[in-house]
Amino acid sequence: MPMAGALRTRFLKDDFGVEILDVDLNEASDETFGEIADIYRRNSVLLIRNQNLSPDTLLRFSSCFGPLVPHTRDEYTLPGYPTIYVLSNKVVNGKPIGIHRDGIGWHTDGSYLQRPLITTLLYALETPLEGGDTRFADTCGAYEALDEEDKRKYGELEVLHSFTYLMENREYGRAAVTPEQKAKTPEAVHPLVLTRPHDGKKSLYLSLGTAQEVVGYEPEEGREIVRRLADFATQPEFVYAHKWKAGDLVAWNNLCTLHCASLYDDMKYERLVYRVWID
Ligand SMILES: [Fe+2]
Repeated sequence: MPMAGALRTRFLKDDFGVEILDVDLNEASDETFGEIADIYRRNSVLLIRNQNLSPDTLLRFSSCFGPLVPHTRDEYTLPGYPTIYVLSNKVVNGKPIGIHRDGIGWHTDGSYLQRPLITTLLYALETPLEGGDTRFADTCGAYEALDEEDKRKYGELEVLHSFTYLMENREYGRAAVTPEQKAKTPEAVHPLVLTRPHDGKKSLYLSLGTAQEVVGYEPEEGREIVRRLADFATQPEFVYAHKWKAGDLVAWNNLCTLHCASLYDDMKYERLVYRVWID
């Protein structure tokens, strides 16, 4: 069991994302939690494997990253835990216990919020033996790879994000938005290029699902700009693909990554993952 200050880490891909090795979060002190949160802040994606966490420990750990954020939809939160959202294809007593086929297509979580969501944390309890990978793209690395003229041009653009647009247009799980959800999620405008406050690094802030238009452009033209940039940012050189195992905990910074879930054989395998949102 490593002591605080002695955590072993390795990069997930080149210098993108980091795995913390040999840590048991059930045994870790608050000091170690703080050190892990610090490592996470300096990296865009964090992986810790082989965990066996109760919902309470998961939330205690998550709280070290920042304040927990309620979910936009509350129909699949874990009973008794409104800040834990369940992703699953499991059906118990004839009812789905979680959301299924969510997050297909490159996006960032919470881009439609007035204050964009910073962190998503997923904790996997059951995973399919094949399929269901999550890919992460480094949008700081992608920004850095742009030429100076493109950096200047995109640095002036703003994107209008909409939860309703997302729900009505996504490939899987298209859903009608209730008046309450609509009232909770007015359209939001965010810069296309964000600057990370703690180190000044810039990133492309894209989300294909919610980007309804680029301010000042015809809607289709604006969406084409976003699509083209997302294609650029999700080239293999910027992407880490995570193959899930039960016990994996992955957190990522939505402000400097894109991510994309993938399908699995849901007739053959069951998946159960808890999601926490953190500001
Ligand atoms: Fe997502």
